[in-house]
Amino acid sequence: MLDMERYACLARQAVAEGCVLLKNDENTLPIRKGGKVASFGRSQFNYYKSGTGSGGKVNTAYVVSVLDALQGCKDIVMNETVFTVYEKWLEEHPFDEGKGWATEPWCQEEMPLSEEVVKEAALESEIALVTIARTAGEARDNSATEGSFLLTKEEEQMLELVCRYFTKTAVLLNTGNIIDMKWVEKYNPSAVLYIWQGGQEGGNGVLDVLTGKVSPCGKLTDTIAKDYLDYPSAEKFGNDDQNIYAEDIYIGYRYFETFAKEKVLYPFGYGLSYTKFALDDIDFMWDGERILVSVKVTNCGNAAGKEVVQLYMEAPQGALGKPVRVLCGFAKTRELLPGESETVTITCDRYYLASYDDSGVTGHLSAYVLEAGEYHFYAGTDVRNASRVGMFEIEKTLVIEQHTAALSPTVAFDRLYPQMGKEALAPSYQPTPTRNYDLWERIVSARPAEIPYTGDKGYKLVDVRNGKVSMQEFVAQMTKEEISVLLRGEGMCSLKVTPGTGGAFGGLTKRLKEFGIPVGCCTDGPSGLRMDVGTIAFSLPNGTCLASSYNEALSEELFEMLGIELRKNKVDILLGPGMNIHRNPLNGRNFEYFSEDPIVTGKMTCAQLRGMHKHHVTGTIKHFIAQNQEHRRTFVNGVISERAIRELYLKGFEIAVKEGGAYSIMSTYGPINGLYTASNYDLLTHILRKEWGYEGFVMSDWWSKGNEEGCEGCKQEMAAMVRSQNDIYMVANNSEKNSNNDNMLAALESDKLTIGEMQRCASNLLRTLMRIPAMERLLGEEEECYRELYSIDDGYEPLEHYTYIDLTQTGVIPAELISTGAGCNTGFELELPDSLNRIVELTLRARTAADQVAQIPMFVYYNGVMVQSIILTGADTEWKTVSFLMQGLHKVGTTVEFRFAADGIELGSCILKKEMDYE
Ligand code: BGC
Repeated sequence: MLDMERYACLARQAVAEGCVLLKNDENTLPIRKGGKVASFGRSQFNYYKSGTGSGGKVNTAYVVSVLDALQGCKDIVMNETVFTVYEKWLEEHPFDEGKGWATEPWCQEEMPLSEEVVKEAALESEIALVTIARTAGEARDNSATEGSFLLTKEEEQMLELVCRYFTKTAVLLNTGNIIDMKWVEKYNPSAVLYIWQGGQEGGNGVLDVLTGKVSPCGKLTDTIAKDYLDYPSAEKFGNDDQNIYAEDIYIGYRYFETFAKEKVLYPFGYGLSYTKFALDDIDFMWDGERILVSVKVTNCGNAAGKEVVQLYMEAPQGALGKPVRVLCGFAKTRELLPGESETVTITCDRYYLASYDDSGVTGHLSAYVLEAGEYHFYAGTDVRNASRVGMFEIEKTLVIEQHTAALSPTVAFDRLYPQMGKEALAPSYQPTPTRNYDLWERIVSARPAEIPYTGDKGYKLVDVRNGKVSMQEFVAQMTKEEISVLLRGEGMCSLKVTPGTGGAFGGLTKRLKEFGIPVGCCTDGPSGLRMDVGTIAFSLPNGTCLASSYNEALSEELFEMLGIELRKNKVDILLGPGMNIHRNPLNGRNFEYFSEDPIVTGKMTCAQLRGMHKHHVTGTIKHFIAQNQEHRRTFVNGVISERAIRELYLKGFEIAVKEGGAYSIMSTYGPINGLYTASNYDLLTHILRKEWGYEGFVMSDWWSKGNEEGCEGCKQEMAAMVRSQNDIYMVANNSEKNSNNDNMLAALESDKLTIGEMQRCASNLLRTLMRIPAMERLLGEEEECYRELYSIDDGYEPLEHYTYIDLTQTGVIPAELISTGAGCNTGFELELPDSLNRIVELTLRARTAADQVAQIPMFVYYNGVMVQSIILTGADTEWKTVSFLMQGLHKVGTTVEFRFAADGIELGSCILKKEMDYE
């Protein structure tokens, strides 16, 4: 059932379809059969399969780099001389890994290229490939500097030389996200191809494009501006404490098409092909509820290929002001042979055409409206290259949905809007409406009633599933203490679930198990399974790459495979897709996310969810919402208008919930409009549940904070989180002992929290637990096809995690370890005098010094086998005791060895305890 060949094929196809060809003069690409290729750039030797941080930690069986793929291709003759020059230089300039979590360099030192080498190569080879690569990731953004968003001097020198001597030069950009592109004009390479970060099949997918097996059909999901400072968010991005979203709804092409067309180098939606397409026979229909557009696409070139048709709207400026283009939908054709045609259709509900009035200027405060005027629609192959296909007119402003204000800013600021100038729209600023309702009043007036405690009636969760008792009756059996334990997840690398995974939740204790509550397991995400004990998993193309393919069906199929892989590893929930809007090209985690556009983001998410849902597992859509910068992400407050929140930052999530059936959501690390999202009532209750009818559960990000309005955030503030329906806190070391020392139970003494609110979160969580495979696993009800997966030996089996250990009669073996500081690699040996069994506890004293929420894994090896990884965070600067459990037996009298390896962790002492009492 887990057909690895098919998995690899789909991933390869996704990479190929995600590649975006920006330039291809004189048909530089594809490389002809037998073509002689000289490949430049040190990064060809260190292909980035993904970015860094939690989203990059997939242990793969292999990674095919572009170079590997080229070298394995019979149809291409590689220039060996150039290869050897690099190989030699690399001996002295090995790959610099940095020191772990967010300290990796975002680029590698480039080899200074000699003119001789290039000159020679140009005589021998007809085409040059130049690879330029960047990575970036969690906890550290890119910067608008050389080696990050900009090219380094050595890279420029390389481009200059290669373009001087070769008439055909194709630049391959192995990046997570767009970078500065000024060099295209400067050096004029004849072809430019974004290949993104393609996961383990990356090189193969790119090869298919280079050789013409697949005609490029990827399209930009972001606008490439001429200069970083042209992006409307540039000025405020990267602030320490407060980030004012003054550009409002004018992000990406919404901004450029409205105010600054001349600043665009490559427009949103742009991407070339090896063939040509004609769009005709266009049919436009508006029935008052939705638009339906059909377009006949004909391949009128010489190669087979696919095309993406995009539909944009131009709404009347009205009183609100609108971007002059807004994407309403897209459709990709199947592969069309030369001369072949296909008619694609795009539909869009009027709700997605509407604008949100947060000021009342239309006369309809807090409503989605279609303002009176003409709505024009444009279809084409990018935002610029789209022609008018139809229109409708609204005579009198129409209210589409009436809501109440929510999530409004409390800080006054001016926001961008388009003012009609003499000829064109000009940027102007107007005051943003601020909150004018009493949030506390809103919260307390809608508190859920307490379900009276009944004591344990012997009902199990399965009785709720089978309709024997109601959820209320079930929850009524639990004390407030029991519920408090239920609302805390454990991790990372909990031994109660698949080893090395991110988190465990649900029936984590003996008592909770007695209620028949299963233990759910989740792990990162988004582009493959992260299992920190070294278990091998499939690494998928990154979010930007998948979105650039605009191929929903392909993503669905690919994530169906991931769904099976989740089942195989007994992981119920992936921590992904990441769906934050690419507000600024420097965001370190853009590689995990999809686009500057919420429709692309929402649709791609739905496709991934559909795929996983086929196997009854799901994805966690994250980070809800507006985590648009990594720098000081647990502090920086996003000040955003309600309109921008609704039209941009919520929209993709809304689509995922309403159309994709999402039922697992992760809140963010930071606050918006003064409230941490994990404790944001308007976000998690008012909008998510009341407006959208969401019935799944919400988890916090790992060790994230919550706050009461006006107070600093802290992770102890669970009362405000539970009250807002952030249903579970991720993560605690020990949920029963309340190891985070949260304020949940204490808050019941005040008006901060009620038992009813705790019961409400418990019900949300339990409802989710009933849907995921954890429930079937507990009941032994898994279908045979999934059961079979556990035993298949296909090279994707989890490693042997539990090694047998023996301990002394005393049960306590102190082992003083020397402090080793950063890069520790230490350990001890001990002789086992007695035989013991069951579970033993290993307790370490450790501390770190890094970014507050950095995840720093320490690997514990037992007799040379990795048995556990323990994650410390950057907040653990004081000596901290970490314990974990190991199961098993070991022969008496043998010597065992423990070793600890970590970067940035200092070890104090280590104690082993025998025979834990753990069920
Ligand atoms: C990230 C999340 C991730 C979690 C668990 C956090 O650092 O922000 O996206 O899912 O860790 O690894």
